Amino acid sequence: DAVERGEYRHYMLKEIHEQPQSVADTLEGRIANGKVMPGIFGSGADELLAKVRQVQIIACGTSFHAGLVARYWIEALAGIPCHAEIASEFRYRQPVVADDTLFVTISQSGETADTLAALRMAKERSYLARLAVCNVPESSLVRESDMVLMTRAGPEIGVASTKAFSTQLTALALLAVQLAKTRGLSEERHARCVADLESLPGLIREALELNDAIKQMAESFVDKQHALFLGRGTHFPIALEGALKLKEISYIHAEGYPAGELKHGPLALVDETMPVVAVAPNDALLDKLKSNMEEVRARGGQLFLFVDRSIRHGMGEGHVLELPPCGEIAAPVVFNVPLQLLAYHVAVLRGTDVDQPRNLAKSVTVE
Ligand code: G6P
Repeated sequence: DAVERGEYRHYMLKEIHEQPQSVADTLEGRIANGKVMPGIFGSGADELLAKVRQVQIIACGTSFHAGLVARYWIEALAGIPCHAEIASEFRYRQPVVADDTLFVTISQSGETADTLAALRMAKERSYLARLAVCNVPESSLVRESDMVLMTRAGPEIGVASTKAFSTQLTALALLAVQLAKTRGLSEERHARCVADLESLPGLIREALELNDAIKQMAESFVDKQHALFLGRGTHFPIALEGALKLKEISYIHAEGYPAGELKHGPLALVDETMPVVAVAPNDALLDKLKSNMEEVRARGGQLFLFVDRSIRHGMGEGHVLELPPCGEIAAPVVFNVPLQLLAYHVAVLRGTDVDQPRNLAKSVTVE
């Protein structure tokens, strides 16, 4: 066990640091010359994907958060309506299936009971096809799906998912581009998406260099009972994921919120004792996010900001850590990394069982 962890104290920390490699592995052979390669979803899949008129994504936990990011990408790049839903909800409602809807499951293990049950239910309905984004080739989910795109994260031991999430986002970006290819995605935007994907391993490496600074930042969270995570657009699901990581392993109650929703409730919780973590990439929503941060400052909230360093100057005071400038596809993957490290270091300082948090299982195979 100690050998497999190598120099790292926990599997989670090792897996966080493996992300540049696992993302690179997930891209291997799937992009070339500025393009997503044909045929990566299997034989006949590209023709099927060209027919898709709607997408329904189903997953649980961290995998669901990957699905929420994908929703923004699929709608923005391919112009196809996309919904993402938690498997345990989906399986017990009576979904109305529009013509030519692609059913997508996302799962690290491929054995999550609710996700499998949702897939089995989908088989009884008139979906165009069922695609799995999964990390375990011999899993039930892979066996029972029509198309598969494997993430290549390798075995993930830490119960809190890290490298599986980054590779899911990578695979889902490939799906969004593949769907967009037949729907007028310009050569130029296609090339930009692929360049973004290629930049990921290097950018994640840069984000990992924040480790020591984040370890220091973590000290401000040790005695807290609550924390709020904010983001907008594709970074709203990243805020959800940051909050999930913190609660899973440090047992601090954390909530992720779309920053624009602050004044509809969570602002009532903000005072000088409330840490508020915000992710601020340099995107179209930046000015909106800045005014949300002012709302937090005005109530004396303690802000912890992860910002694109090219816009650092406009971000005001507070605990600020800088990340490298990222393209639209790369940003959520890269900005998630410091949130993983934050949760990790807070949990270590609180002395919890980081790799095996209480009451949680790596794979939830019973309902
Ligand atoms: C459990 C794990 C999470 C994971 C979720 C979904 O709750 O602790 O880390 O995100 O299951 O698992 P899956 O294998 O379907 O991605």
